[in-house]
Amino acid sequence: MTASTKDILAAAIRSIPDYPKPGIIFRDITTLLGDAAAFRLAVDELVKPYEGMGVDKIAGMEARGFILGGAMAHQLSAGFVPIRKKGKLPYRTVSMAYALEYGTDEMEIHVDAVKPGEKVILCDDLIATGGTAVGAVKLLRQIGAEVVSACFVIDLPDLGGRKNLEALGVEVRTLAE
Ligand code: PRP
Ligand code: ADE
Repeated sequence: MTASTKDILAAAIRSIPDYPKPGIIFRDITTLLGDAAAFRLAVDELVKPYEGMGVDKIAGMEARGFILGGAMAHQLSAGFVPIRKKGKLPYRTVSMAYALEYGTDEMEIHVDAVKPGEKVILCDDLIATGGTAVGAVKLLRQIGAEVVSACFVIDLPDLGGRKNLEALGVEVRTLAE
């Protein structure tokens, strides 16, 4: 990825101070999603390392991971697996409590969302503490997935998420800070 690609993506993301809580600078990707060229660039850059790898499924975290992960799955001709907040999935689930930069929550996945050994890539808009992504990797492994990599548009490196995910043996790819 060239420096200009990183700059274009960073410039397309808006920062909102004190949202959702005082002291948090919220990285708002709706501006990137609404910019056709920036959205395409982001999805092209996210899928590039995985082309030709035989990825079976992209797992996207609610809510913004659905938008990016859905586009990635289409481009890689892979399936899509939603990881949702508690109580939203209709079939049998496994669930996991997790902590993030501004609170705690619980996420779920359908027990049959992957077949044993399927190659899965995790996708979300942003990694901060990594609490969400670490929980998602654990859920995916619990139902038999091989989590080959995790990708994010934005990394907030000071919050340590990349290291927490790499400690689980998962490769991490990010596009901007
Ligand atoms: C945001 C973001 C990631 C998570 C990252 O989602 O989209 O999923 O936080 O934070 P972490 O690395 O500290 O876990 P949020 O929980 O705000 O949910 P939403 O997308 O449903 O608004
Ligand atoms: N998730 C955790 N921290 C965040 C931030 N600063 N902006 C957007 N999403 C987040």
